[in-house]
Amino acid sequence: MAIRSMFAAATFAAGLMASSALAADMTVGFSQIGSESGWRAAETTLTKQQAEERGIDLKFADAQQKQENQIKAVRSFIAQGVDAILLAPVVATGWDQVLGEAKDAEIPVVLLDRTVDAPDDLYLTAVTSDLVHEGNVAGQWLVDAVGDKQCNVVELQGTTGSSPAIDRKKGFEEAISGHDNVKIVRSQTGDFTRTKGKEVMESFLKAENGGKDICALYAHNDDMAVGAIQAIKEAGLKPGSDILVVSIDAVPDIFQAMANGEANATVELTPNMAGPAFDALEKYKADGTMPPKWIQTESKLYTQKDDPMKVYEEKKNLGY
Ligand code: AHR
Repeated sequence: MAIRSMFAAATFAAGLMASSALAADMTVGFSQIGSESGWRAAETTLTKQQAEERGIDLKFADAQQKQENQIKAVRSFIAQGVDAILLAPVVATGWDQVLGEAKDAEIPVVLLDRTVDAPDDLYLTAVTSDLVHEGNVAGQWLVDAVGDKQCNVVELQGTTGSSPAIDRKKGFEEAISGHDNVKIVRSQTGDFTRTKGKEVMESFLKAENGGKDICALYAHNDDMAVGAIQAIKEAGLKPGSDILVVSIDAVPDIFQAMANGEANATVELTPNMAGPAFDALEKYKADGTMPPKWIQTESKLYTQKDDPMKVYEEKKNLGY
C-alpha cells in the first residue's frame, strides 16, 4: 500500500498527461448500484444522456444492489481497457483491492453519489453531496417544525453500510441532539426502496400504538417515505399532519405528496452527478488537470411552502 501511495500522483498524472484523448474518444465504464429508487433511475438516465451528448462511449453495468457484481464490473472494465470508470458504490467498505487494481492499470475512477472508506489516492475524485449535511438539514427542519412539543421520531434508514445511510443518520442525530423533546424511538433499514419503506413503516405503526405515539417519520430517501405514507394512510392516520414526514432526494412523487399535504419536507439531491464527473474527466484527460478530491453538489430544502405542484411539473420528465 505504501508503495502504491508513492506512485499515486505519478500514476494518475503521468499516464494521463500523455493522453490527449478528447471526450469523443473516451470509453467510460459505469458500475451502477441498481434501480432501488426514483432518484437512482434518474441518475442512470442523466448519465447516459450526458455521455451521449459528449460523444462518450458509456459501458453500463447494473449491479442489482450487490457489491460483488460491482467488483466484477470494475474488473471487466479494467480488462476492456476503458479510459475511466464511474463507480456508485453500494456500500462504503471493501473497495481497496479493486480500486488498487484500477489504479495499477492507470484507469482513473470517479465515485458517484456515495463515498468509500478507502485511501483517497485510490480514486480520482468523488462527486457527492454533503451527506451528513443533508441529514442535518432534515433534522433541523423537524426541530423547528415541532418547537417545544414532545416528538417521537421513527427513522427509515437507507441500505445498511452505505455512506448515505451512515451519514444521513449522523447528520439528523446531530441536529436533534440538545433537543430533548425530539427523540428517535425506532430505526430500521428500508433499503432505499418503496416496498421496504412501507413494510417497515407498518411494523413501526403496530409497535407504536397504531401510530398514535409517532410524531414524525424521517426517511433517508423519498421512495421509502412514499411507501411509508401509504402505510400511514392504511393505518387510518393522516401523513403530513398526524405524522410529519421529512425525507431526502426531492423526486417528483414526493412533491405530489407535499401538494396533497401528505409529506412536509425534502432535501434535494441532484441526480446529475455525471455532468461534473465527465467535466473533471475531460479536463484530466486533456491536460492532466487534477480535480479536487471532492466535487460537492448542492443540497436544498423544499417544504410545502415551495409550490410543490410547480416543482413536480418541472421535475416529472427529468428521468425519475
Ligand atoms: O446515494 C444516493 C441515494 O441512493 C439516494 O438518496 C437514494 O434514493 C439512492 O438509492
